[in-house]
Amino acid sequence: MAHTEHKPSGHERIETNNFLMIVLITLVVAVGGLVEIVPLFFQHSTTKPIEGVKPYPALQLAGRDIYIREGCYVCHSQMVRPFHAETLRYGPYSVAGEFVYDHPFQWGSKRTGPDLARVGGRYSDEWHRIHLINPRDLVPESNMPAYPWLERREVDADSLPGKMRALRKLGVPYTDEEIAKAAEEVKGKTELEALIAYLQGLGTARSWDKLAQQGQTAQQGVSVQTPASAAQ
Ligand code: HEC
Repeated sequence: MAHTEHKPSGHERIETNNFLMIVLITLVVAVGGLVEIVPLFFQHSTTKPIEGVKPYPALQLAGRDIYIREGCYVCHSQMVRPFHAETLRYGPYSVAGEFVYDHPFQWGSKRTGPDLARVGGRYSDEWHRIHLINPRDLVPESNMPAYPWLERREVDADSLPGKMRALRKLGVPYTDEEIAKAAEEVKGKTELEALIAYLQGLGTARSWDKLAQQGQTAQQGVSVQTPASAAQ
């Protein structure tokens, strides 16, 4: 039988040529990625703060740096996912517009401890003070480390104006006046006070109450029932 010459089709030529395959896959992934990612840089929902989200006041900003320095993010995420179990436990799910002034953001995914995205206002300042100095005084089974030194150290006030100017370059709209007053505002405060101020501000722009006021609870896709009202 005569051997007929097999002419590879276009597809076969690509599939049998490693180099061509790599180049084309890279191209397809790059285009696909760009189409998905680039619009996010321009969409209002990802670039504009939601109502009530303001640049961190000086003391909270100092507290945020302590949060990062102490590695709190190693055990705590800051993002409520859009699942019923999460919204029941933590509150309304997180939206991008809450994080536009976060550089860097603290979303994370490791949850040795609970998510902290909506911890603001959940406990008193005094609760946080005792808890941070020794978590076991309040939660006997807690494996969270103790941070007793935060109460003894003062916030580095003089470094704040520089940090705020750097953030302004990244798009956080601090005014000259806010920057000028920053060092004065935090002078003499302890690191513990700063960290607590930061924690108490977390997620408060999008609480159940705020959403109810704005008539947005229906859009949440979950019932308005909060853990507190469920317990009644
Ligand atoms: C080794 C992991 C770990 C690290 C690091 C850690 N935590 Fe925790 N955290 C936990 C665990 C576990 C709990 C739950 C038990 C408890 O309340 O102590 C918790 C609870 C909390 C709570 C109470 C949350 C709630 O909704 O009840 C806050 C607030 C908190 N941590 C803040 C911090 C801060 C601030 C830091 C950094 C200074 C930090 N944690 C570092 C593990 C950690």
